[in-house]
Amino acid sequence: MVNTKVSLSGWELDNPVIPASGTFGYGYEFAELYDINCLGTFSFKGTTKEPRFGNPTPRIAECPAGMINSVGLQNPGVDAVINEELPKLAKCFDKKVIANVSGFSIDEYAYTCELLDKQEQVGLLEVNVSCPNVHNGGMSFGTDPECAAAVTKAVKAVTTKPVYIKLTPNVTDIVSVAKACEQAGADGISMINTLLGMRIDLRTKKPVIANKMGGFSGSAILPVAVRMIYQVYEAVNIPIIGMGGVGSAHDVIELMLAGASAVQVGAANLVDPFICKKIIEDLPKEMEKYNIDDLSKIIGGAHNG
Ligand code: SIN
Repeated sequence: MVNTKVSLSGWELDNPVIPASGTFGYGYEFAELYDINCLGTFSFKGTTKEPRFGNPTPRIAECPAGMINSVGLQNPGVDAVINEELPKLAKCFDKKVIANVSGFSIDEYAYTCELLDKQEQVGLLEVNVSCPNVHNGGMSFGTDPECAAAVTKAVKAVTTKPVYIKLTPNVTDIVSVAKACEQAGADGISMINTLLGMRIDLRTKKPVIANKMGGFSGSAILPVAVRMIYQVYEAVNIPIIGMGGVGSAHDVIELMLAGASAVQVGAANLVDPFICKKIIEDLPKEMEKYNIDDLSKIIGGAHNG
């Protein structure tokens, strides 16, 4: 019998598999397909203070081994999430959930996090300073260590639950941003968000995406995630939730060896809505194949020796 349990800042998960924000709605949509209580947990759609309609369409461009999205943080706003989405989730999910939060000012991040922190169903706050699809917010906070630290401090001042900061890979030195967040009080790091990308339609000779650029995700970015998680693990003493191109139990183990304590699955959910369930079912077999009896013991294992 292998042990798949892992923990994030004292919160024990049955397994490390977590559908990533923006690829799993508010959870109940997927509960129509299978019992989502098999998941470690999941991270719900990025939530902002006010409702957002999102970016103009087209918002999606297909790519070899991935996709580009420019959704633009479409969401119903924090009040509707608390009053409508979380009650629907409570009917089908017995575990606590990760609240993913975005903002356009430090005050907005703090406001939304303070409200979600008070919700019994929320186990952890994931603060997204890395959305590449909005102007005057999102990624602009996460590309500057001082701004990322300022958001972290403001959120920590008004919350009691663990705060993980979700980082962008669109920087020269992700380690300096991670360290700044740790020094500002972050309980953990989530990484990596999407890589800024673009496609051009040869027939129209124009960008495929209305917003021109968007976030590239999918299996092509796995090696970038592995590299960045490996680097950040060496530099900080707080847990990392790893993500980026994960689509199999093998990929989960690889990110954990790089330094992730748990692993999110993003774009793969959009290709196969059952992928997280399959990964969870495959994990014990994959662990046995590589002589792993306890997943929590392999975190950062690639750094030894
Ligand atoms: C989006 O809603 O544009 C995606 C969110 C993100 O990449 O952080």
